[in-house]
Amino acid sequence: MEKKSLFNEKNIKIGPDSGYDNYIMAIESSCDETACAIVKNGREVISNIVASQIKTHEKFGGVIPEIAAREHLDSINVVVQEAFDQSGLKPEDITAFAGTVGPGLVGCLLVGLNATKTLALVHDKPFIGVNHLNAHLCANYIDTDLKPPFMALLVSGGHTQIIDVESYSKQTIIGETIDDAVGEAYDKVARLIGLPYPGGPRLDKLAQEGNPQAFELPEGKVDGYNFSFSGLKTAVLRLVKSFDGKELPVNDICASFQECVSKTLVKKLKKAVLERGYNQVVIAGGVAANSEIRKKVFDLEKDGFKVCAPPMKYCTDNASMVASCAYFNTNTFDDVDVEVFSRVK
Ligand code: KG4
Ligand code: ZN
Repeated sequence: MEKKSLFNEKNIKIGPDSGYDNYIMAIESSCDETACAIVKNGREVISNIVASQIKTHEKFGGVIPEIAAREHLDSINVVVQEAFDQSGLKPEDITAFAGTVGPGLVGCLLVGLNATKTLALVHDKPFIGVNHLNAHLCANYIDTDLKPPFMALLVSGGHTQIIDVESYSKQTIIGETIDDAVGEAYDKVARLIGLPYPGGPRLDKLAQEGNPQAFELPEGKVDGYNFSFSGLKTAVLRLVKSFDGKELPVNDICASFQECVSKTLVKKLKKAVLERGYNQVVIAGGVAANSEIRKKVFDLEKDGFKVCAPPMKYCTDNASMVASCAYFNTNTFDDVDVEVFSRVK
């Protein structure tokens, strides 16, 4: 993404070294949440508004991009106004406007990003385009004093990555899934056993009532810090078919699946942090809300690691994390011709 903006020439600064308080208003609309937030200095949430579309997409069993984009259009002005109202701030108090540029659903991203650019232009403030995945990571800075370096596990509906975070602005992906993302695997397995959308959190709930040792499921065998979840998904499909229409032990299947996924993820995260020699690990992304993954990651405290995980409301999509990311990851402002993108290039 080319960084050029009149505000760079004006030598306006943003971030921890700016020397003054930053109030960043951010908008997030990459999938099925329309969100707006104002965050002070990357860590203090002044207002946080999220309009969820779960009810809309529930009847289709998944997110329908065209419908999602239209619903963003209906909600965007409302969430922006509510974020201002809840904060007691006015547009002139805002240091910069930030919006998610991708990855995500293009039609959805366009709604939020155009609103962000419009706010910046109308109020003559800098504009910052934010990467959704970096934003998930930055959710860990909210209400904490976390500072890099640390090793991060990013688990969302579209991504599964281990990221070496050396500094606020230097992050290296050292491992990722070679097929399904964890959230995708959760949602597909949930559908297989007849759970409604959104499957991940529902599967998590049932898993807590089941026996994690009931069925032995295969961990994806991939080199280094990469992951594979498609084999596991197929194994669950075979297991379900083996019951041949008889009543499924749903809780035990969920618990066994969850055990296999969480064990694999945390094993590689631990290996990565040990090898790099850091003393901190963090988790981020929608699936970081998962009870068993959180438990296993927090168990790393027993090995002497400092563990950080955002509270549930900042794990799933929200705009506070986007504002925090704009504050910590931004060295320069963007011009308003920045375009949205659907996938990581
Ligand atoms: O990060 P996110 O809100 O959106 C993306 O950027 O993808 O993540 C959404 C994903 C969905 O796949 C959802 O099923 C999953 O996060 N998820 C969970 C839980 N809560 C949300 N998966 C497992 N356990 C949960 N508790
Ligand atoms: Zn997300």
